[in-house]
Amino acid sequence: MCKKMHLDAPNLGDLEKGYLNRAIDANFVSTVGPFVTEFEKRFAGYLGIRDAASTQSGTAAIHIALHELGIGAGDEVIVPALTFIATVNPVIYEGATPVFVDVDPLTWNIDVKEIERNITKKTKAVIPVHIYGNPCDMEGIMKVARDHNIYVIEDATESLGARYGSRHTGTIGNFGCFSFNGNKIITTGGGGMVVGKNVDSLNHIKFLVNQARDNSKEYYHPEIGFNDRMTNIEAALGLAQLERLDEFLNKKKLFNEIYRQELKSIESIRFQEVHENAESAYWLNSILFEKDMDIAVLQKRLVDRGIPTRRIFTPVIEFPPYKSYKKRDYKNSFDIYNRGLSLPSSTLNTPDDIDYICKALKEVM
Ligand SMILES: Cc1ncc(COP(=O)(O)O)c(C=O)c1O
Repeated sequence: MCKKMHLDAPNLGDLEKGYLNRAIDANFVSTVGPFVTEFEKRFAGYLGIRDAASTQSGTAAIHIALHELGIGAGDEVIVPALTFIATVNPVIYEGATPVFVDVDPLTWNIDVKEIERNITKKTKAVIPVHIYGNPCDMEGIMKVARDHNIYVIEDATESLGARYGSRHTGTIGNFGCFSFNGNKIITTGGGGMVVGKNVDSLNHIKFLVNQARDNSKEYYHPEIGFNDRMTNIEAALGLAQLERLDEFLNKKKLFNEIYRQELKSIESIRFQEVHENAESAYWLNSILFEKDMDIAVLQKRLVDRGIPTRRIFTPVIEFPPYKSYKKRDYKNSFDIYNRGLSLPSSTLNTPDDIDYICKALKEVM
């Protein structure tokens, strides 16, 4: 029987068990407890910023960031066509209109020229997504945002630890949103984080996610809030995982080096290009086949060898709720979806596993 590889499974062990036990022993398992603020503090420390506001998911983080910026009915928000649907749904939750633009064929990230081309009087924000951990051209995006006076909410849900220049992704725009879903670089089971430059805004987000509860009076709610808080149990897991973040990032980087080295003899395989000024977190190592390839057949052959893979995200405009927002053909997004594939990148794998995957891929091609 062949060994089973891991696509994006979490890496949990004794450290996580220790933290979880401490949360249980203290009887703080829900939304009250010291680990939540400790996790926010250490997360901000890791990114080299002043503060961070935890949430129940990455989706909630994007939602609350849009809400905090006052984005709503009549406003347009520019989003890449190639992303996970959770980048876009919060725009609809707030009653605003998503405007889909195509991605760059080399980095797979939102095309800066396309952002500028699609700005109208109604545009309030853009949500660049650092797809699969690969940083967007943040210099270009911030310039367009400054020139046109629009907000930037970075979807950094897949890119914790990635850098653009000397700064971490997520810390460059007005807000940055992270996810700690089970398949992400670190996990809290489910959870998210918002970071941003304006400390008053972050404090307001902490208040909003806690049912807009004013603690100076008993059960008093001066605004309409949300129940989007992280729990102490989740934060306990997060603290343990944060201690291991560098271990995970180093491993992912090593996996990327092995994939690139071992697959470079196959001319038809191309990797996501990393901006010259950036360092990817390599959340999911993903490749593009430059010739026609039946991806489903390839996936089946790899599964038979114990290797799980994942199709690239279906462009969001393909889904029924978004079809009517389709303005053009989004050629690059569809090319990448049709010819791309994400390879096992979980840190549960070993370098030998990645070697084995490369050999298997060469065989089945
Ligand atoms: C690009 C992108 N945006 C948003 C999200 C939403 O994060 P979550 O699953 O924590 O809500 C995810 C992850 O699932 C994602 O990959």
